Amino acid sequence: MKINRDNLPQHIAIIMDGNGRWAKQHAIGRIRGHKKGAQAVRTVVRSCREIGIKHLTLYALSTENLGRPKEEVKALMSLLEEYLSNELMELQKQGIRLKTIGEIDHLNATVKEKLLQAKTSTANNDRMILTLALSYGSRDEIILAVKKLMQDIKQDKIKINDINKDMFGSYLQTTGMPDPDLLIRTSGEYRISNFLLWQLAYTELYFTDVLWPDFKKDDLLKAIANYQQRERRFGLTSEQLEKDNNNNGRSIDRE
Ligand code: IPE
Ligand code: IPE
Ligand code: MG
Repeated sequence: MKINRDNLPQHIAIIMDGNGRWAKQHAIGRIRGHKKGAQAVRTVVRSCREIGIKHLTLYALSTENLGRPKEEVKALMSLLEEYLSNELMELQKQGIRLKTIGEIDHLNATVKEKLLQAKTSTANNDRMILTLALSYGSRDEIILAVKKLMQDIKQDKIKINDINKDMFGSYLQTTGMPDPDLLIRTSGEYRISNFLLWQLAYTELYFTDVLWPDFKKDDLLKAIANYQQRERRFGLTSEQLEKDNNNNGRSIDRE
């Protein structure tokens, strides 16, 4: 199977699910499943950068996940800290900018500090934007946006009639980013789990049974190839759409 270099999704978002079940399958603790999941993150970040994806957004921790047993939350924080320490050099080398969405104030202080450092030191990189969704919940994000909007109306910075889709989007934490073209969810679950509810309006959804720790470059290419077979109509008819003649584009082999 090949992917077409001329029809790449500009923005891929991934719900990285299944670490716990992977651990269960291997008769080890959940935390070791998360550890293995962190390795899959490294692989996918590198692969996306290699393929030429501009934006990669990874759902690493939901607001709701913070309600998991204390030991698990603590382990997730340590893993995140470890990831940042180990990968910062690599991100720099690869020209990857790190961003976050979510309430990073709810993370532990060391992790927050490391994140801020990593975000600042990669701020000028532009080969790929890696956005980690941490302590993220889309409903909270939307409510926060509404609050800011109301404040700006109250202070006469904007008028109610000025509000439109683009303006509302600019109040979300994803401001400046294109909406995801492709959403991948691993582990055979068919739900969005409070991820990017506004931004996914016209995103192509791809679900795979592969558990996140097993997700490899090959699985990513499979998802991209599947995406490339879809016709994105955005509510119009096929006839209305200008046919993208990208079949002549360069293609690369799956490993
Ligand atoms: C995803 O794996 C990682 C996080 C949510 C932090 P899970 O931990 O949800 O794995 P399952 O769903 O229990 O298999
Ligand atoms: C979604 O996975 C959140 C992340 C992958 C970070 P969950 O495992 O928390 O989702 P549910 O509980 O199955 O919906
Ligand atoms: Mg899960």
